[in-house]
Amino acid sequence: MNIPLLLETENVSYIIGNDAIEKSPIKFRQYKRIIVITDENVEKHCLPIFKQKLPSLIIDGVITIISGEENKSIHQLIYIWNELTRLNVGRDDLIINLGGGVLTDIAGMAAATFKRGVQFINFPTTLLGMVDAAIGGKTGIDFARFKNQVGLFINPSCVIIDPIFLDTLEDLHWQSGFAEVVKYGLIMDRELWQKLEGKKYKDVEDWNSVIIKASKDKIDIVRFDALENGIRKNLNFGHTIGHALESFYLKSGNPVTHGMAIAAGMICESWLSSKIFTLECTRLESIVKMIDLNFNRFDFSESDISRIMQLMKQDKKVRKKKQNFSLLRKIGKAVHEVEVEDQLIIESLEFYINRKKCN
Ligand code: GLY
Repeated sequence: MNIPLLLETENVSYIIGNDAIEKSPIKFRQYKRIIVITDENVEKHCLPIFKQKLPSLIIDGVITIISGEENKSIHQLIYIWNELTRLNVGRDDLIINLGGGVLTDIAGMAAATFKRGVQFINFPTTLLGMVDAAIGGKTGIDFARFKNQVGLFINPSCVIIDPIFLDTLEDLHWQSGFAEVVKYGLIMDRELWQKLEGKKYKDVEDWNSVIIKASKDKIDIVRFDALENGIRKNLNFGHTIGHALESFYLKSGNPVTHGMAIAAGMICESWLSSKIFTLECTRLESIVKMIDLNFNRFDFSESDISRIMQLMKQDKKVRKKKQNFSLLRKIGKAVHEVEVEDQLIIESLEFYINRKKCN
């Protein structure tokens, strides 16, 4: 029998694992009305599953936005506010955010700001949402061409993580979430790393336990550092170079998924970890092998590196002139706020494109 994990933190309840939706203790009847915010893909593929799992739940309104990072915009936020107004949503109602990372980011912001805050619950439907975006209270929109430029830290009252929705995912979305799962293994969870090492994501047998482990890792971090003043920065491993690569491909009209960019970033930043800390060559090589097994390498060349470096300078984590990284002391142990010289970052990108060996 499946028994989902119930975790209570100071202000959020988490229910994680198979059958989490139907076994959650949420008392929907305490709310006057239930409004679902979703996107057109999730409405088609996941909303029917959701309704099937909660047959007695009466949904009083569905607000459907357009999916995709390019739509995490002020226009869609205004659209949600307009719909909430039209439906006369009040503070005794409940908003259910059903979707991936983009959806829980924007709908969380809409719920938190509408009438100074309507209660909401996140039901993530993608792997990335389950192990990362729906947990930790980051909400927001992209603005003025910058990712997550406007937003707020605000927690849902509950996060229900049910792997049932994974059956609806396309390969690209599996892969994107998998990069974040691997990241938890590398930064804090050696046991998870050992479970995954050498495997393609398609060969992982027990996704239920992997999701429980990875989401619990994230909860453990955000319950100690909700506002990203310290240990939460460890979650940025792979993201400093990864975000620059994501922007580089977006601006060249050839967008890549967040996970693909983070996977490439983790190769470069593992190399930096081997240069700055004591991450051994054999360990670096096993990380590179694992990532190469699951992700194709990007094809940027040495002449693109200066542009990628420029994009990195726009990163939120830049302090003074040097770039700030979260790196690995060893597998399962990350450190944050490590300043790295530009020359070493350039060499890490060269290590990536030239498929160099560790030395
Ligand atoms: N996705 C990184 C964080 O929530 O801090």
